[in-house]
Amino acid sequence: MKIDLAGQVALVTGGGRGIGRACSLTLARLGATVIINYWRSRDAAEELEKEIVGEGGGARAYQADVSDPGAVDAMFQFIRQEYRRLDILVNNAGIVQDALLLSMTLQDWTSVHATNLNGPFLCTRLAVEMMLRQGGGKVVNVASASAHVGGRGQTNYAASKGGLVAFSRAGAVELARKGIRINAVLPGFIETDMSLPVRQQAAGKLLERIPARRFGRAGEVANLVAFLASDASDYIVGQAIAVDGGLSAS
Ligand code: NAI
Repeated sequence: MKIDLAGQVALVTGGGRGIGRACSLTLARLGATVIINYWRSRDAAEELEKEIVGEGGGARAYQADVSDPGAVDAMFQFIRQEYRRLDILVNNAGIVQDALLLSMTLQDWTSVHATNLNGPFLCTRLAVEMMLRQGGGKVVNVASASAHVGGRGQTNYAASKGGLVAFSRAGAVELARKGIRINAVLPGFIETDMSLPVRQQAAGKLLERIPARRFGRAGEVANLVAFLASDASDYIVGQAIAVDGGLSAS
């Protein structure tokens, strides 16, 4: 199997760091021109843009808070003006704001939902508008094993990721006949800044729960994202696929 994304335009939200960075790099190396969306990590996104361009690929860092409808509108206006098409959307931007349920504030709840769920909704709606005009496209949503495996202090996060899986499934059913495929990936514990505190606190305990006995690498999630973003996975529709070393299977 050879994946060739030459001529395609991809948007990766939160694409300058961690899993998003790996997705941007992988899609670019497969030939796609990548818009690296970032919010606060300008340096990381601009460095990645340089790295991809230095390798002969196409990339552009673009700042937008995905939870802000106005900023998302402006980003899509930029994409329409600059590239005139969008073939791949990777809804990767996400945050955690852990708290035990009794002490969780409404702000903890709504801010996580604003980024993890409203963000994909706002971006997908505008991406689908472009994809319908082009006759198709692919959306890959980066959810989490937390959608299926409970974790203390993560009711807000788990609900947002469970919601993202349900959103992917319903959207896929609605849009598959138009040539737009939506799927989700469910990473387990992946070595990024986000999981660092929990990996530092309880590495031994966590590794005992993971049949593969190691944490995942961002590139391993990106490989699945690239497969789902390519024609090689054309008959996979509305699925949520784990990349978690067996965590959710055990
Ligand atoms: P990270 O914290 O390294 O990266 C998150 C990215 O999202 C950053 O680039 C950040 O700037 C961006 N971001 C956050 N809020 C944003 C906003 N409002 N607008 C635009 N960008 C925003 O985290 P990591 O690990 O790379 O996470 C990527 C995705 O993978 C997230 O959706 C996360 O929930 C998910 N995930 C991560 C796991 C892990 O173990 N690292 C496990 C399961 C899921």
